[in-house]
Amino acid sequence: MNRTILLTGGGGFVAGNIISQNRSRNIIEAVEQREVPITGEHLTWHILDLRDSAQLRHLFHRVKPDVIIHTAAISDIDYCEVHREIAESVNVGVTGTLVDLCVESDVRLIYFSSDSIFNGQKGGYVEEDIPEPLNFYGRTKVAGEKIVQQGCRNWVIIRPSLITGLPLLDAGNSFLWRLINELKQGKKVPFPKEEIRSPVDSVTLSRAVLELAENDFKGILHLAGNDTLTRFEIARQIVRKLGYPPDLVVDKKPQVTTGRAPRPRDVSLNNAKARSVLKTPMLDLAEALDLIIENKGGRDLC
Ligand SMILES: NC(=O)c1ccc[n+]([C@@H]2O[C@H](COP(=O)([O-])OP(=O)(O)OC[C@H]3O[C@@H](n4cnc5c(N)ncnc54)[C@H](OP(=O)(O)O)[C@@H]3O)[C@@H](O)[C@H]2O)c1
Repeated sequence: MNRTILLTGGGGFVAGNIISQNRSRNIIEAVEQREVPITGEHLTWHILDLRDSAQLRHLFHRVKPDVIIHTAAISDIDYCEVHREIAESVNVGVTGTLVDLCVESDVRLIYFSSDSIFNGQKGGYVEEDIPEPLNFYGRTKVAGEKIVQQGCRNWVIIRPSLITGLPLLDAGNSFLWRLINELKQGKKVPFPKEEIRSPVDSVTLSRAVLELAENDFKGILHLAGNDTLTRFEIARQIVRKLGYPPDLVVDKKPQVTTGRAPRPRDVSLNNAKARSVLKTPMLDLAEALDLIIENKGGRDLC
């Protein structure tokens, strides 16, 4: 069934992938705070700072969504650590407004949390594990989760692992896009060996989110790939796939990088629940990279 989806963070990395994967199935009412040069048959843009709750409320009642997919956030972990007030107002405050609107009108809310809510001491986290974030970004995501769980009736909390993929625009929070641009300039690319993740690709993630927009699953879901790897190994696999020499990836020592917020060591996520609930298959990194390349559009990756 076609839905009307209010998509926050429309100009961001993940939301761009959701728009691409929608393939005109649903009507997308995308919100962003600046002009976004993307058009589509069933896509409408709304320019809005989500912290303006009166305007957000007005928009919500105008577009009458069936589902909200809430990707908008201050997603830069180091920025959040320093700019706590703005991180709190966007990541927590806006979520609160959306929860109120969903409750008043019985609308489904899909909230983007993160693997960063865990302390990284054990890895292989399941949905029932207790969050204990190490940085301020993770704390805002936990606060958002609590508001959603306590306030909403029809909710899904998605916890994506590290997301690998290409942005629709040459912007946003895609580490793969930054990596490709550095490789093109002949630079070495530093990635930590200490940080362990279970990367999920942006195409699979978007397909899973659209599936969740259309089904009636309620609860928390870890959206992660099947592999558990260090960020160094992830980068090496990507670089090899793109045809660059793997030794361009060098070890990054997080403890000597100044201005970097604390990162959890191993926040790999167990994706067994996602594999049992969703029709969208969760992939190994090698399969995910093939899928990203298949969906690269006109972009030159080498
Ligand atoms: N990328 C990952 O590896 C990863 C992993 C786990 C979880 N997540 C979560 O997944 C979600 C999507 O991440 P992403 O990588 O797509 O992040 P992103 O590229 O930074 O996108 C976030 C979007 O939110 C928008 N936004 C921020 N403040 C806003 C405001 N006040 N009003 C309107 N729009 C606002 C941003 O717009 P501007 O650009 O104009 O500021 C941006 O377009 C986030 O909730 C993030 O925390 C991401």
